[in-house]
Amino acid sequence: MDWERLPTIQTDRLLLRWISAEDVDDFYAIYSDPEVMRYWSTPPLPDRNAASTLVREIHEGFKRRELLKWGIALRTDDKLIGSVTLFKPDFTHRRVEIGYALGRPHWGNGYMHETLNTLLTYAFDVLDFHRIEADVDPRNAASIRTLERLGFQREGYLRERWQVNGEIQDALFYGLLQSDWETVKAVESENYGAVAVKGVGNSLP
Ligand SMILES: CC(C)(COP(=O)(O)OP(=O)(O)OC[C@H]1O[C@@H](n2cnc3c(N)ncnc32)[C@H](O)[C@@H]1OP(=O)(O)O)[C@@H](O)C(=O)NCCC(=O)NCCS
Repeated sequence: MDWERLPTIQTDRLLLRWISAEDVDDFYAIYSDPEVMRYWSTPPLPDRNAASTLVREIHEGFKRRELLKWGIALRTDDKLIGSVTLFKPDFTHRRVEIGYALGRPHWGNGYMHETLNTLLTYAFDVLDFHRIEADVDPRNAASIRTLERLGFQREGYLRERWQVNGEIQDALFYGLLQSDWETVKAVESENYGAVAVKGVGNSLP
């Protein structure tokens, strides 16, 4: 890993890339939306200055090797539509936490599944993590579905772990091991093989 700047990672439709000062307006639009921030661990951003400060803190966190936050942009126009973060890395125990969000107009297109599918492989294969953790509000159905579909295992229920804007929130803890991920990928490629073979069969007279 080059600790000067995050590498750009490409998926079919998206770029996972460095967030720069030019992204502040898009960043603010996403993180000031109360619906996006409904189950976040901090309140919505109050103003553009807060977004600007946060972008600076993201860069500082990266320099300290504590925070790896990629912007998610559409490949068609490079516009920032969300972010995905690996944070609190523990390089001794090879574990890290993951967090993510998309701007509301971009929900429901499978973008986060596509993002995480690529980023998890990067986290295990290139960054050499062994375990990835996620902490999600039990009411956040879309996030829970996103995690479970990728093979994350539900490992615990932590009562009243957060207090955001005066609201006390519980937390569900999820974990994904490198070995879980290898199983998910093996099953996927087996299924893909079966579909491909079926396709060939169907084309026969
Ligand atoms: C969580 C989030 C990233 C999901 O991204 P997305 O690309 O929009 O995901 P989708 O809309 O495709 O939904 C993912 C799955 O959840 C399901 N889902 C969506 N909303 C749901 C709801 N209200 N109830 C039940 N299931 C729901 C979808 O049907 C989909 O299931 P599928 O994979 O079987 O098709 C996005 O909703 C978001 O940014 N939320 C706000 C920020 C946030 O909460 N981040 C997570 C903090 S832990």
